[in-house]
Amino acid sequence: MKKEEVLDLLKTIKYPGFSRDIVSFGVIEKIEMTDKDISVGLNIPTQNDEVKKEIAGAVQQKLEALAYFNEINVELAAEHAAQHDQHQGHKTPIQQRVELSGNVKHIIAVASGKGGVGKSTVAANLATALKQNNHKVGLLDLDIYGPSLPITLGIHDMPKVTSDRKLVPLERYGMKIMSFGFISGNNAPVIWRGPMVAKMTEQFFSDVEWGELDYLILDLPPGTGDVQLTLTQQLKISGAVIVTTPQDIALADVRKGADMFKKVEAPVLGVIENMSGLVIDGKASTKDGKPLQAKLEIAGKETIETNREGQFSIRYDIFKRGGGEAESKRLGVPLLGIIPLSPEIVESTDLGEPIVLSNPDSLISKEYNKVAERIVKELS
Ligand SMILES: Nc1ncnc2c1ncn2[C@@H]1O[C@H](COP(=O)(O)OP(=O)(O)OP(=O)(O)O)[C@@H](O)[C@H]1O
Ligand SMILES: [Mg+2]
Repeated sequence: MKKEEVLDLLKTIKYPGFSRDIVSFGVIEKIEMTDKDISVGLNIPTQNDEVKKEIAGAVQQKLEALAYFNEINVELAAEHAAQHDQHQGHKTPIQQRVELSGNVKHIIAVASGKGGVGKSTVAANLATALKQNNHKVGLLDLDIYGPSLPITLGIHDMPKVTSDRKLVPLERYGMKIMSFGFISGNNAPVIWRGPMVAKMTEQFFSDVEWGELDYLILDLPPGTGDVQLTLTQQLKISGAVIVTTPQDIALADVRKGADMFKKVEAPVLGVIENMSGLVIDGKASTKDGKPLQAKLEIAGKETIETNREGQFSIRYDIFKRGGGEAESKRLGVPLLGIIPLSPEIVESTDLGEPIVLSNPDSLISKEYNKVAERIVKELS
């Protein structure tokens, strides 16, 4: 039996919670074989003892199942490595971190294990809110399979390339924007395989010239696959913002996303519950246009009274409430904000202008500003 054969065997073990195997994760530190004895050294980059036990157990089991070795010794080297790592500063045991070009103070990842919960919308509005508070802001769309920032922000140009072959982010609403979509083309969904994506991401990180930034907001693709893993390993993320919807069904996926940041020890700053209830704002008036102070009877709702200007606001909890709160409690992080379902958000997405800009006085914009303020506070 050769070492390579043992490695091949160990490649069939997945890192708990990830689609990647433990070998490509860099968990196997050494394999020593003498005659029919084997010793495998594992370096598992986590504080979670359950994960360590699970991996060590799986390795032991696989080797025993071979019925080839007399003595099998599986050793854990994580404690030692973790301490060593702290002394080294910013280097993960998994992979070398990538340095961004420019001077980027904080990197904030907007993420969720689940698709379509509003990550890109939150990322764009959060970035815009930070910009409005006079911070230097960049926005990086890492969704290779379905980049959406070019649409959300109405950008149709291509980034320029500097003489030393760096990509220059596009400027929009006073922010620096970069997206895989600029390169892959808005209409051409790119089908890349995992390792290609990982490589592309890595290059993409170091090839963009960001200049001076206070905050770089990352719009992550959904899921907990290779891209997310590469990302969370390679960049020194200051904090993650988890987006969820109110339903329980969504939560299971979201949870996986949040747990990924725990695993790579990037702090989760908080949770945003998006699409939380439907808020309809309206105005009642008489036929000749005078404001109507009246009682409105609305199906499934208590009677609502309009104010002196005839204005009213109704909130429908279409889905169950409280998903965001439950998740923030579970993670022990704050619930940063609650954004209702709003036709205005859909419209602003279509128009390529975040609602924070198109309607800065709306309750939703104020909520986004509140979220931005809390994040600034937490990171300072
Ligand atoms: N609060 C909201 N109210 C109404 N529509 C919303 C809200 N938030 C997001 N949307 C809409 O939902 C759709 C999906 O949003 P978005 O693209 O931001 O989700 P995502 O999580 O980034 O999706 P993906 O997983 O595909 O990247 C968009 O059309 C967006 O306009
Ligand atoms: Mg998106």
